[in-house]
Amino acid sequence: MSGAQQFVLNLADEEATLSLGRRLSPLLKIGDFVALKGSLGAGKTTLARGIINASQRSGDEPVTSPTFTLVQIYQAGSVAFWHFDLYRIEAATELRELGLEEAMDEGVCLVEWPEKLGAGLPEHRLEIELTTRGDARQAVVTGWGGWGARLGDGTLLTGGGA
Ligand SMILES: Nc1ncnc2c1ncn2[C@@H]1O[C@H](COP(=O)(O)OP(=O)(O)O)[C@@H](O)[C@H]1O
Ligand SMILES: [Mg+2]
Repeated sequence: MSGAQQFVLNLADEEATLSLGRRLSPLLKIGDFVALKGSLGAGKTTLARGIINASQRSGDEPVTSPTFTLVQIYQAGSVAFWHFDLYRIEAATELRELGLEEAMDEGVCLVEWPEKLGAGLPEHRLEIELTTRGDARQAVVTGWGGWGARLGDGTLLTGGGA
């Protein structure tokens, strides 16, 4: 845990999840890895949609769940977002085929079910764990490695007016 920074947020509705994504988006740059944890229906895809939408132009491809394709790539401005859903992954060889290494070098990785990476999970990562709280959601945001400092005092997560 040393060096990790953690913040707990309540997300009252879908719009709050999208809004968190929009605030995270400008922090992300090529080579970054975002782990989106939580059970089915927790809001992982919604959060990824908020992150990607913030960098897209109107008319760009809508962000859908990569449940069946396992990965979707969105070129948004100068950044390519690689949105993975590893739920159905069974072997490490599949990860290579999906282009995970290339994604880590050339894009921003947004990864649902990052647990599937096991020891391959990057040390420096932004992790968001979503849990259902009645009709709402709770997000635990953890900055591992270099992300601890990048999250600062966490005001950028709660808006600070944005
Ligand atoms: N903060 C929230 N409060 C209530 N519902 C939410 C919230 N965030 C997302 N949802 C809803 O949860 C449902 C499942 O979201 P989704 O992003 O597909 O989950 P996952 O990818 O984790 O399976 C969607 O109907 C979405 O609108
Ligand atoms: Mg999903």
